[in-house]
Amino acid sequence: MNTGENRIVLVTGATGGLGTAMCKKLYDDGYTVVANYRNEAKAKEWQSALSNEGYKIAIYHADVADYDSCGQMVEKINKDLGHIDVLVNNAGITKDGAFRKMSPENWRAVISTNLDSVFNCTRHVINPMIDKGFGRIINISSVNGQRGQFGQANYSAAKAGMHGFTKTLAMEVASKGVTVNTISPGYIGTDMVMAVKEEVRNQIIAQIPVGRLGGTEEVAYLVSFLASTHASYITGANLSINGGQHVY
Ligand code: CAA
Repeated sequence: MNTGENRIVLVTGATGGLGTAMCKKLYDDGYTVVANYRNEAKAKEWQSALSNEGYKIAIYHADVADYDSCGQMVEKINKDLGHIDVLVNNAGITKDGAFRKMSPENWRAVISTNLDSVFNCTRHVINPMIDKGFGRIINISSVNGQRGQFGQANYSAAKAGMHGFTKTLAMEVASKGVTVNTISPGYIGTDMVMAVKEEVRNQIIAQIPVGRLGGTEEVAYLVSFLASTHASYITGANLSINGGQHVY
């Protein structure tokens, strides 16, 4: 879908499994792709590996948990490349553990990286999108924000919060050509999911009707569609992509 010409997309947390697949797909669509990262050494290695595959992707540092850091990143991107047309709020972490043992640090880390980040990044890009009369905000949530998951009180709270944000902002900017949507992936074959103990992971896979983990590129295609002009009438939605694991 070649709708990205002359458009700039920023993907946060781009060097992870989902982020990488999104960057490649959006690059193939013709976007100028900007990748946000936190770890410089990892990001440089990632950029050079993608460049060897033909993907020329700009990398910009910001701690998405920090409002000013996001502001500085967006300001640099605006100066170097222009205003951001599509923002994919993809950065996220897990600090899993039963709630009765969960530390305040593990609560706060997940809420600030997974939820505060959505405010921190979106706030800096929304007004130029409104002024231009076009914009796409795509929030990467999770099946575990739609339902509960043992060991993820922090993560589920953050991911559910993302969609509350989506619904309200979608209403506020619908008349301005800006859409705001949530994607809720189920268990995808990323490092994050592979970090779950094998025995627990296998029990989870057994509950997925499609019978397998999702592919990162399957989520990337959905991001690509939502970013495109073909998706102008989809806003405030929460799109599930979970192999039938959570049907409601
Ligand atoms: N359901 C019910 N009870 C459970 C349970 C479950 N799923 N898992 C553990 N328990 C029970 C244990 O049997 C134990 O019971 P007793 O106290 O009676 O012995 C009790 O709960 C505590 O168990 P643990 O001490 O093992 O708990 P823990 O603090 O070590 O945490 C865990 C366990 C690490 C959270 C483990 O359950 C786990 O890894 N769960 C999977 C979490 C998960 O799905 N994470 C997704 C990561 S990927 C991602 O997040 C991407 C995405 O969007 C999908």
